[in-house]
Amino acid sequence: MLRGFWIAGVSLLLVIGAVLVGSGRERSVRQPIQFNHAKHKAAGLECSFCHQGVDGQAFAGLPPLETCAICHTAPMTESAEEAKLATLIVKGEPVPWQRLYGLAPHVFFSHRRHLQLAQLECKTCHGPIEDATTPPVRPAVKHSMKWCMSCHEQRGASLDCMACHR
Ligand code: HEC
Ligand code: HEC
Ligand code: HEC
Ligand code: HEC
Ligand code: HEC
Repeated sequence: MLRGFWIAGVSLLLVIGAVLVGSGRERSVRQPIQFNHAKHKAAGLECSFCHQGVDGQAFAGLPPLETCAICHTAPMTESAEEAKLATLIVKGEPVPWQRLYGLAPHVFFSHRRHLQLAQLECKTCHGPIEDATTPPVRPAVKHSMKWCMSCHEQRGASLDCMACHR
């Protein structure tokens, strides 16, 4: 009898522990280089200079090494972060950028549709990342189904399951 309680107690603690560890582990993203969006905006670069698919394709994409190498083959600053980039450029090794936003593979989303047709701004879905001086560690906007649906409802866009789940 007593032993039963004891086992139940330990199991309960294990469950609580697992839940706490699980929630504390809300995905936080660490980038290999402390990229500064604000400085590159000040340098006059459009978003699509680095996120090349954003205007015409479903995926915006992250910049390949070659895009950074256009300006960073010779050092422009004293920054240790720029030095890390320079080393990768010399070795020809891609920067292992981590994804911040990403839907489950069963959901279809197209940047082209939302930018060209719906005329939305990046900010609406990604927050003020253009002013970020260090890479965001978590998404500014949670891309849940409820979030997609509430805008679709307001804007009279499709609510059909098959439009997003294919
Ligand atoms: C069109 C030119 C251009 C391109 C392309 C470019 N940069 Fe830069 N980068 C700059 C300028 C200008 C600065 C600011 C120099 C200064 O602070 O005086 C800079 C600064 C930096 C710094 C130092 C930042 C700091 O905090 O001082 C890093 C790191 C950097 N860039 C990384 C990148 C990466 C990674 C890419 C590719 C994704 C990239 N840059 C693409 C022009 C460019
Ligand atoms: C010089 C290249 C460059 C320019 C210009 C640039 N970005 Fe980025 N962007 C990056 C790099 C590198 C990362 C990954 C590191 C980070 O998060 O800072 C990134 C990450 C992002 C992400 C997160 C992507 C993911 O993994 O889910 C978003 C959203 C984004 N940028 C939006 C923008 C917007 C909006 C603009 C224009 C206002 C812009 N970027 C301009 C290089 C650039
Ligand atoms: C209507 C909302 C919406 C708008 C507007 C939007 N995005 Fe996104 N973005 C998303 C979603 C959703 C994802 C995740 C897509 C996926 O996983 O299929 C994403 C992903 C990204 C990524 C990660 C790489 C990728 O291709 O998935 C980058 C970079 C990005 N967006 C940049 C931009 C830029 C730059 C703009 C403005 C020019 C912009 N986005 C406008 C919703 C949006
Ligand atoms: C801020 C508003 C807004 C948000 C947020 C938004 N959408 Fe949309 N979406 C629209 C509008 C407006 C259209 C209609 C564009 C057109 O075709 O004229 C659209 C169209 C679409 C279509 C094409 C539907 C069809 O008729 O075939 C898909 C698929 C879609 N969105 C997926 C998503 C997904 C997935 C998300 C969330 C990750 C999302 N959208 C978030 C505004 C939004
Ligand atoms: C406007 C786009 C959109 C429409 C329309 C839509 N969904 Fe979703 N759905 C999403 C997004 C975004 C997610 C979250 C994916 C993620 O977490 O990465 C999602 C998640 C789900 C999940 C959870 C799966 C999981 O990954 O946990 C189910 C189940 C689901 N949707 C069913 C439906 C059904 C049924 C309908 C029709 C009534 C529907 N959806 C319509 C965008 C949509």
